Amino acid sequence: MKKTLNDIQEIKIPKISDPDGRGNLSVIEKEVLPYKIERVYYLYDVPSDATRGGHAHINLQQSLIALSGSFDVVLDDGNERKIISLNKPDKALFIPQGIWRELENFSSGAVCLALVSEIYKEEDYIRDYKDFLTFKSR
Ligand code: TYD
Repeated sequence: MKKTLNDIQEIKIPKISDPDGRGNLSVIEKEVLPYKIERVYYLYDVPSDATRGGHAHINLQQSLIALSGSFDVVLDDGNERKIISLNKPDKALFIPQGIWRELENFSSGAVCLALVSEIYKEEDYIRDYKDFLTFKSR
């Protein structure tokens, strides 16, 4: 089944607030995300006028978290688009395979953590939007 925007999930990450006012701790144990994490990477020092992403994946699933600051994620399933803003370290945006994504409007100091289901493989990327539409229509 081809994935659509309905398969995207905003996942609450458990947050442990310190009773003595020493701040918060969030933890991701294996049942929090719907896949096993194989790789972790993060984006930082992204200029506010820069766009990251601009691709889809054939098999890879991932979740994005704004560990610090904020940014917008443009999501596209070939039929419709929506934008989800991330600005909380206790919220993960789960993006299944087969969804085009662009990341933009990074605030100063924003850090985007990506928790990924696969090792890095360039063959898993669809980097051309027309190729993506062809992939979705097959
Ligand atoms: P890319 O996924 O294209 O970044 P973005 O979509 O955010 O613009 O990756 C940028 C470069 O980094 C590209 O040359 C591939 C390389 N890269 C790795 O070598 N390993 C990785 O795990 C990732 C995510 C990227």
